[in-house]
Order: sequence, then structure tokens, then C-alpha cells
Amino acid sequence: MKLVYYPNAILSVKTQEVTVFDENLHSLLDEMKSVMLAEKGIGLANPQIGGNSAIFVMSSNTPFKKNNEIYEFINPKILEKSKGYIQISEGCLSAPGVFLMIPRHEEIHVQYQDRYGNIKQAILMGIESICFQHELDHLNGVFFIDRASRNERRAALKILGIGK
Ligand code: CO
Repeated sequence: MKLVYYPNAILSVKTQEVTVFDENLHSLLDEMKSVMLAEKGIGLANPQIGGNSAIFVMSSNTPFKKNNEIYEFINPKILEKSKGYIQISEGCLSAPGVFLMIPRHEEIHVQYQDRYGNIKQAILMGIESICFQHELDHLNGVFFIDRASRNERRAALKILGIGK
């Protein structure tokens, strides 16, 4: 599977809820994990490989923690979010070389399904919270450049060679 790069229109499409939790879903998830690891990303959403399912994978390996787990989020949503915001220099495999400061909720309470359809909840903080919000945006057809300030957006488009 090949990565989809901005401004491919697929990245602006809202994804569909997953309703079938079968072998096909499992192999798709495994494929997404291999692509993410091969590309050295910490998150990968289904539209980034051309799909339109509400799925993303996320690595637990951050600058603060390395336990080599990969989380799978199917039909994810945010139940509660902190009023406080944090931001880091955020990147995306679909926009190589672009790093943007995007305010994200510091802590979020999330719900999702695992690969067997079981409903799960989690509380995410810090970089995991940021990553979840970035990937959830992908599932809603929102790209992180869309959230940047006008100046940052202009700089980002220039880096990608699509500046106007
Ligand atoms: Co991304």
C-alpha cells in the first residue's frame, strides 16, 4: 500500500463507520501497522493509504516512552476533553518536512472499538492525546495544515512545493 500525500482529495473525505470486524479488517490493520513502522510514523489513519474507513493506528513509542506497543482505534471518538491545551511541533506522513504548532486538548477521554468490535475507553495525555486528535481529524477529512495559522499554512504549502 502506498502513502497518500497532501493535497490528495482523499485526505478531505470523511470516513465511514466500520461495521464488519472480520479477517479483512484484521489484515487491513496489520497492513496499516507495517506501513506506519516502515515510514517511521507514530500514527497512520486509513485515508493516508487511500481508504475511507474510520480506523487509525498509533505507536506508543514517543520520546518519553518506548514499549513497542501499537494501538488500534476503530470508530474512535472523544467523550470528554480538557479545557487546557498543549502543542508540540506536529508532523504528518502525508506532508513530509512540514511541522506545525497546533493547539490540542491536553487530556482526552476516548471511546473506540478494538479489532473484534469490543467497545473500549481510555484516557490519553500528552503526546498520545495530541496524536489521537491529529489522527481523528484525518478520519473527519481535516488535515493539520487546515488548522494552522495563515502564515504557518503559507510556509507549509511552500515546503510542499504547492505554495500560491
Ligand atoms: Co497525519
